[in-house]
Amino acid sequence: MRDSAVLIDFIDLTLKEKEKVLSWRNHPDIKKWMYNDKDITLKEHLEFIESLKSRVDKRYFLVQQNDEDIGVIDLTNITSDDLEIGLYANPSQRGVGNILMRVIIDYSFGKLHVKKIFAEVFSENSKASHLYQKHGFSQVNKKNMNGKEVLCMELKNENR
Ligand SMILES: CC(C)(COP(=O)(O)OP(=O)(O)OC[C@H]1O[C@@H](n2cnc3c(N)ncnc32)[C@H](O)[C@@H]1OP(=O)(O)O)[C@@H](O)C(=O)NCCC(=O)NCCS
Repeated sequence: MRDSAVLIDFIDLTLKEKEKVLSWRNHPDIKKWMYNDKDITLKEHLEFIESLKSRVDKRYFLVQQNDEDIGVIDLTNITSDDLEIGLYANPSQRGVGNILMRVIIDYSFGKLHVKKIFAEVFSENSKASHLYQKHGFSQVNKKNMNGKEVLCMELKNENR
């Protein structure tokens, strides 16, 4: 049986864990779906994590389950009403997308008590857009980023 997921705030990660998360973020199968698709240096990554200590509008977590590091979730633009989410899976794990999505939805509505969650996904990213739709997100808009179409999705608390 699966244990419940454990969230570790980026600011509490060990250096080894920070390096591991960076290697996922720079993995070609992950960075190609990010707005910033350039390699991030260790220096930039460590400075970014340090900057999170003084931010109340952003939270990044390493997600563990059964002692395995399964992925990263992030919550940004956090207000009392809504926030934006992002996620990526450990590239060597398969089938953890549903778990990460469940964790981020439960955290947003159950812990931060927002009314609405926003997400943006490249329309070519069929795996991620399928995942969002499966968890109740609906498309509310479209836009262009880096010359590619982006789907703007949202999930209201009452619709989950
Ligand atoms: C998005 C991501 C977290 C999903 O994690 P995952 O472990 O690969 O996901 P899962 O294997 O749990 O699959 C999620 C769903 O997508 C489906 N899926 C898999 N490949 C698919 C494809 N090519 N097209 C459509 N759906 C697909 C799976 O069948 C599954 O649906 P199901 O639960 O109904 O069977 C992961 O692929 C990832 O980190 N991608 C790179 C970063 C990213 O794109 N993040 C989102 C940016 S908005």
